[in-house]
Amino acid sequence: ETDMDLFLPRNIPGLAKEAAGCTRCPLHGPATQTVFGEGPEDAPLMFVGEQPGDNEDLEGRPFVGPAGQLFDACARKAGIDRDAAYVTNAVKHFKFTPRGKSRIHQRPSAGEVSACRWWLESEAEVIRPALFVALGATALHALTGDGKGILKRRGSFERGRFGAPVFVTVHPSYLLRLPDASKRAEEEARFVEDLAAVQEELG
Ligand code: URA
Repeated sequence: ETDMDLFLPRNIPGLAKEAAGCTRCPLHGPATQTVFGEGPEDAPLMFVGEQPGDNEDLEGRPFVGPAGQLFDACARKAGIDRDAAYVTNAVKHFKFTPRGKSRIHQRPSAGEVSACRWWLESEAEVIRPALFVALGATALHALTGDGKGILKRRGSFERGRFGAPVFVTVHPSYLLRLPDASKRAEEEARFVEDLAAVQEELG
């Protein structure tokens, strides 16, 4: 791969501007816009999700829909201020299939995740966080090269591609999909515990 350092801006607004015109994979076609990461450039934590959802695609900001609101609430309970962290996704365009008036989320392919890693790496180089947090298997794959068996790896710190360690946890959408209320409450509490471990690690 080309030495990206020669070509890319070394700040988030500059990178976001470049990424707005990205055509490295076909997902830019049907999506409304690129949803780049956001947060302070000196953030100690970099949270990585899967890809923007319907709301994020329309608003142009990561984690603003139902999963994002649940994430914010759980982070707050764990003592983490979302605004002090950098929040982004492994893939920067919403992938969906139209069904009537709605757009149904589709998981990005390994090829799409790998095409978009260019941007994730550029963000990681600017932010240089003390710790990455992989929210779900897609993020874990992008950050470590292996996204398999996430439930067994959950709660651990792994070696990642971009220098700092990677903490493994589930995606907030996983919590939203649990049909049983008590199971959901249990899993949500566990997610908050995971995030509290992250906060503790930062000291
Ligand atoms: N899910 C994600 O993975 N990222 C978002 O930004 C929103 C929902």
